[in-house]
Amino acid sequence: MSNTNLDITKIRKDFPILSRKVNGKPLVYLDNAATSQTPQQVIDIIVNYYSNYNANIHRGVHTLSQEATDKYEEARQKIQTHFNAKKSHEIIFTSGTTHSINMVANGFTSLLQKEDEVIVSALEHHSNIVPWQMLCEKTGATLKVIPMTEAGELDMETYDKLLSANTKLVFVNHISNALGTINPIKSIIEKAHAVNAAVLIDGAQASPHIKTNVQELDVDFYTVSAHKMCGPTGVGILYGKEKWLNKLPPYQGGGEMIAEVTFEKTTYADLPHKFEAGTPNICGGIAFGAAIDYMNSIGFENIAAYENDLLQYATNKLLEIEGLKIYGTSTQKTSVISFNIGNIHPYDIGTIVDKLGIAVRTGHHCAQPIMDYYNIPGTVRASFAFYNTKEEIDIFVEATKRAAQMLS
Ligand code: ALA
Repeated sequence: MSNTNLDITKIRKDFPILSRKVNGKPLVYLDNAATSQTPQQVIDIIVNYYSNYNANIHRGVHTLSQEATDKYEEARQKIQTHFNAKKSHEIIFTSGTTHSINMVANGFTSLLQKEDEVIVSALEHHSNIVPWQMLCEKTGATLKVIPMTEAGELDMETYDKLLSANTKLVFVNHISNALGTINPIKSIIEKAHAVNAAVLIDGAQASPHIKTNVQELDVDFYTVSAHKMCGPTGVGILYGKEKWLNKLPPYQGGGEMIAEVTFEKTTYADLPHKFEAGTPNICGGIAFGAAIDYMNSIGFENIAAYENDLLQYATNKLLEIEGLKIYGTSTQKTSVISFNIGNIHPYDIGTIVDKLGIAVRTGHHCAQPIMDYYNIPGTVRASFAFYNTKEEIDIFVEATKRAAQMLS
């Protein structure tokens, strides 16, 4: 039995996909860092939206449009409450974390100058590297990198040395998608603020495991993808402090984001609409709100305790396999295990375990600088959610052993 308050048998019944078979075997879904599964409670909300009140929002006087608008804005408020943003208009709906980061990076184009510096970390996903490189190309600003250590942690002493009066922005993930390391973001934010730099934290991997309080962190920008939190793909948020969102120019022009349009001059709408051009993912936004309700009904403390138990169990079991090396050995980790076995290519292990019904991710996990640091092409990555079980981990470990024997 797990040391947990959760009734996992009951929880698993909420996820219809978990009872399907893959290649004739019961699905063992261990690719939760890529995308989480969707409970029936969220699926029902999606079906209900398209069955009963599908309409465009903020536009029509008709009843369906009003109903859809109310539900969409209700979802924004739920998200505000969940992340403890001061105002609901500090929550901007986006298509996900990548969109959110690009929105901020684009906004800083007019705010940066040649002598300015921005700081990234060696542990980032490409979506928190490339938009800033594009920003530096446009502005002439310099990109500096907080190095990582063998354990997959950030080298905070070097971070201290990189910060200066020229630093305008720091962007780091809350949790590494490739290694699971939980970064010391509170200290990163405090130190950046001491030199008047703004901070963006990519919360895509943290939001399924940790209930983040943006006011307590005093973070300037925080980004989230709904599909990592039992919600649908194609929707997420950018949290931004009001003062920053007012300072940044809009990302896209179009309908909904204007106050007035003439051919001589267009003025922009107030927050959040200034950043929400075009018809958004209305159903997705509403379903995101439902996903947050679902996760809160389980409880983030329960989720963290249970997943931590799974992480320890799986780590110990996997390390019994000869030649297996885990990348990312910080004591501050969420339920992600990246590993290789000898010189076996991760893709080959992933392919064999898939034949046994097991879903893991293989490759560089959109984090090539981490793979370069370890001088490897990629890893096998198993990532656990609160609906996984120790029995599934046993199946996965046995399958991995079998794969290793076949491939050695
Ligand atoms: N960023 C997602 C992952 O780590 C897709 O798999």
